[in-house]
Amino acid sequence: MHADSWALKAKKLGLRSRAVFKLEEILKRTKALKKNSLVLDIGSAPGGWSELVKALTPSSNIYAIDRLPMEPIDGVQFFQEDILNIDEIKDIFLLKSKFNLVISDLAPNLTGIRSIDEENIFELNIITLGVAVNYLCKSNGTFIIKTFQNSMLKKLRTEMEINFNLVQTYKPAASKSKSGEIYLYGEMR
Ligand SMILES: C[S@@+](CC[C@H](N)C(=O)[O-])C[C@H]1O[C@@H](n2cnc3c(N)ncnc32)[C@H](O)[C@@H]1O
Repeated sequence: MHADSWALKAKKLGLRSRAVFKLEEILKRTKALKKNSLVLDIGSAPGGWSELVKALTPSSNIYAIDRLPMEPIDGVQFFQEDILNIDEIKDIFLLKSKFNLVISDLAPNLTGIRSIDEENIFELNIITLGVAVNYLCKSNGTFIIKTFQNSMLKKLRTEMEINFNLVQTYKPAASKSKSGEIYLYGEMR
């Protein structure tokens, strides 16, 4: 399907974003989402991923964080906060080392200057990786993070490999090939 057709499909289905199809494909292929999961959605607005996780596993408990506001979703606890301040959100802090799945669709604002953008993406990815490692359950935690194909990707993957037993790369069909976006998947066992 042409990349823009995914946007139309999302609109027809009343979904909040076409990003939903990307996560859906990764979740199907990895079987990362189980019933009764504790899920942390980082960079959640406008809410497509949270909505999908809730629809696939209504029994899951979802916590979502974004610095922008997000329209409420039944069964999703949303906090409007920067990821840098996640430890200050008491409800989430109390769940350190307990999450089964952390998903991150975070992207920094781009400057258009490639070297600066690549550094900013890497820095935000490393912060998010640190959050995932702190908040995931060490015995079965899984992490899905959006990043970009650039000169820092190998370094990020190496950092993932230090913290996860299994690391895989995904480029879902709904992801525009020219966008350069790519997803890393990490599994603790
Ligand atoms: C691509 S959108 C997420 C789309 C979402 N997954 C969905 O399906 O609806 C990326 C989000 O990351 C958020 N974001 C970027 N930097 C952030 C930060 N430092 N802290 C919290 N949220 C951030 C943006 O506000 C934006 O809403």
